[in-house]
Amino acid sequence: MSARDKSSWEQTPGAPAGHFVSGLVYTDPDIYRDESDKIFSNAWRFACHASELPEANDYRVFDHDGQSLVAMRGEDDVIRTFLNVCSHRGAKLLDQPSGNAKHVTCFYHRWTYDNHGQCTGIPRASGYASDGVKKESMGLREVRTDVLHDLVFITLDGATPPLETFIGPALDRFSEMLSGQPLEVFHYNQAVLECNWKAWHETNMDLYHEFMHVVLRQTQVNAMPMEDRKLIVFEGGHGGSGGDLKAAYDGYEGFAGRGDDVPPLAGMSATDFRFINLFPSTAIISRGTVVRIDTVTPIGPDKALLEMRGLGVQGEPDGHRRVRQKHHNQYWGPFGRNVPEDMVAAESCADSFRHQAGRYQIIARDEKMAGQDDAILRAFYAEWGRRLGRDPGAPV
Ligand code: FES
Ligand SMILES: [Fe+2]
Repeated sequence: MSARDKSSWEQTPGAPAGHFVSGLVYTDPDIYRDESDKIFSNAWRFACHASELPEANDYRVFDHDGQSLVAMRGEDDVIRTFLNVCSHRGAKLLDQPSGNAKHVTCFYHRWTYDNHGQCTGIPRASGYASDGVKKESMGLREVRTDVLHDLVFITLDGATPPLETFIGPALDRFSEMLSGQPLEVFHYNQAVLECNWKAWHETNMDLYHEFMHVVLRQTQVNAMPMEDRKLIVFEGGHGGSGGDLKAAYDGYEGFAGRGDDVPPLAGMSATDFRFINLFPSTAIISRGTVVRIDTVTPIGPDKALLEMRGLGVQGEPDGHRRVRQKHHNQYWGPFGRNVPEDMVAAESCADSFRHQAGRYQIIARDEKMAGQDDAILRAFYAEWGRRLGRDPGAPV
């Protein structure tokens, strides 16, 4: 067999169910709506790092499942999240991405709220005297919020099991790094990607594509035997590195000596590479001296908002911070040797699936949970299929 004709191109790949994904999962509008109803309306989602709300009354606005939300730190030090929507006629309350507000005043008719979400003032409230509208019953819609290792998560659904149940043991290998010293966000950037949200998450679950990155070809692929690179998957669609992968930075000009100039994070060595992908759309990735957190938010079937955070150690000397920023940006900054290449890959596949020229993604690599096994992708799509009641390989 050489090249394939139309009908053979459109046949399913000769791999077992669960080992390939139909291109329709990236484009079909019904599937996109289903993902909103059955994933994003009830899953726990990473919202921000607690260090982004250091003071009482600090807030951070973000979008989730098509809605604007705001996380706020109260004077009681508790972080709460609300729909960023006024109880009166629905105006958006806060239009800056972050700030500090002891009282939130709606610009439209000047109703006011405190950081517990209580409505504290209605101008000329006497006009509502006969119809029962009163500030005591006009609070904001609060959204369940929980904090684990300083990671702030929210869910829109009151019936979703607790965050600890949702995450299970998936973050256990990160607890020392995330909590062993206080971390803070020093880098934040956003990009709108012309691809489905899953296409980005796939780049963080797929080790096989490390051949694409010149820096990984020269520092990671040969840094340890493939069979020693252990991967792990968890119930709920999470998955990542089961043991640390190693990097040999001396193999790449400009990276040599990386880590000799700043202490690694707690529980890490400077040459460790550790990652976890949390279902549905968050990745936590550490390269020994620095951490990156990705969150991808669907905007439409073929558009997604990517938020990327870089974290270092709170209160560290300026010299250490500069080195950590360099380590972050070398890989993951907008001009780094890793993230821009992943963007090209995600958008390139999206181009093929948009008009169904591409039909399937093959996720069939089996290396016994090591090397470049596709097991993390399969675990993600098994959970996706379970929630949607669809086979990822034949979803419609
Ligand atoms: S819409 Fe907010 S006060 Fe009227
Ligand atoms: Fe990549």
